[in-house]
Amino acid sequence: SECYLNGVFQPLAQCQVSVLDRGFIFGDGVYEVIPVYGRRVFRADDHLARLSRSLDAVGIKNPSQANDWLALVRELIARNAPDDQCIYIQVTRGVAKRDHAFPQGVEPTVFMMSFPFPHVPEQKRAQGVACITAPDLRWRNAHIKSISLLGNVLARQLSVESDATETVLIRDGLLTEASASNVWLVRNGRLAAPLRDHDKLEGIRVGLLQELCGEIGVKLEFRPISEWELRCADEILLTSATKEVLSVATLDGKAVGQGKPGPVATALYSAYQEAKK
Ligand code: PDD
Repeated sequence: SECYLNGVFQPLAQCQVSVLDRGFIFGDGVYEVIPVYGRRVFRADDHLARLSRSLDAVGIKNPSQANDWLALVRELIARNAPDDQCIYIQVTRGVAKRDHAFPQGVEPTVFMMSFPFPHVPEQKRAQGVACITAPDLRWRNAHIKSISLLGNVLARQLSVESDATETVLIRDGLLTEASASNVWLVRNGRLAAPLRDHDKLEGIRVGLLQELCGEIGVKLEFRPISEWELRCADEILLTSATKEVLSVATLDGKAVGQGKPGPVATALYSAYQEAKK
């Protein structure tokens, strides 16, 4: 596939960065994952605004204006074959002699690639997925979409080893999010999501589901969600760029509600499919 590195479109297999890149040495960078359906980018403005916030939060100067980013994204889509893609954007602080302090006069490394959209298999959608819980051991700035993902990687591996799709994270007795998705629950027909704070990433689907709830008449609250409440939810949902809206059938081996996708998740998934058109 074709990718983009520092101003040049080139085949991914030929694309190389220095081992002194601060992304490699320190995990010093931020990223985005943007879905593309039928060659059309979905919610690009929201993703590019979040990229800009992530860059600001870590003190890397945004190398492009939103319009220029969008042009690069469109060019990358055009150069890759799949109709449904994911565009990965990564910006690191650049290449410099190893020193924790920010280097002076160094340009950020800008890398973009496309991969085929990893559609969730129909059977998983229809049945709902298994999740486990684990303590959230990540740093306290999870609202920044940082490429330093070791905490997320270790959390995800726990679910791999339990044949589960995601690891739902608990900090101080409260739900934060999952290793690579946001988590929602339904009780008495109402949707609830945790408070939007520095302990979790504000997914682009958080704003989107808020809109969809308005459209389909589901009440939504952002409030602290206890581990206990999670365990007695009628429905649990995951959202991310790649999972879209995905029902959780079991949590730590115990059925969630009826143990299959519930009415709120099903309605939100349908509304999401409409929004993509
Ligand atoms: N992950 N929380 C975390 C920790 C995430 O990594 C993601 C997305 C989300 C959902 O955000 P959004 O709705 O904007 O995709 C929440 C991406 C897809 C990834 O790392 O591959």
